[in-house]
Amino acid sequence: MTRIAIYPGSFDPITNGHLDVIERATRLFDQIIVAIAENESKEPLFTLKEREQMAAAAIHRWKNVSVDHFPGLLVDYAAKRKACAIVRGLRAVSDFEFEFQMALMNRNLNPDIETIFLMPKDEYSYLSSRIIKEIVRLGGNIDGFVPPSVGELLVQKLRSK
Ligand code: PNS
Repeated sequence: MTRIAIYPGSFDPITNGHLDVIERATRLFDQIIVAIAENESKEPLFTLKEREQMAAAAIHRWKNVSVDHFPGLLVDYAAKRKACAIVRGLRAVSDFEFEFQMALMNRNLNPDIETIFLMPKDEYSYLSSRIIKEIVRLGGNIDGFVPPSVGELLVQKLRSK
């Protein structure tokens, strides 16, 4: 049986912290689908297409990882893709409350899909897409936190304003 996992998120944009989680997941599952939520209430900086392109370029190195996007509920998408698990990264205790709520609600909606948490390398534990955007906006250096092509797009988008 092929074990498929969904790694959902906003990925606005994908960071090296996300990639670290993906790498860990590739060792546990046969196939990982990086799934970008379409109904994001967070007013993303990048369009869905841009986020998908950045993620696709970043995951190119793994044969068993692909990128997709989904409308509606995550558990419905996971069931449609025949996934057995949802993977989420857990950086710090501050992530826990929201993640716990989401995992239990998703389990309530579909008991067949398990949520598993993976901890990224400690050097990424304080990293988030939101903080990366703020640093770029304010002129700081984000080398080592995002793939170089993502860094260039961030600079283009945020410093051309
Ligand atoms: O990267 P994020 O913003 O932390 O990801 C959050 C995401 C996209 C995983 C979450 O908002 C989600 O699952 N959205 C899809 C809609 C859904 O299923 N909502 C109910 C969650 S209990």
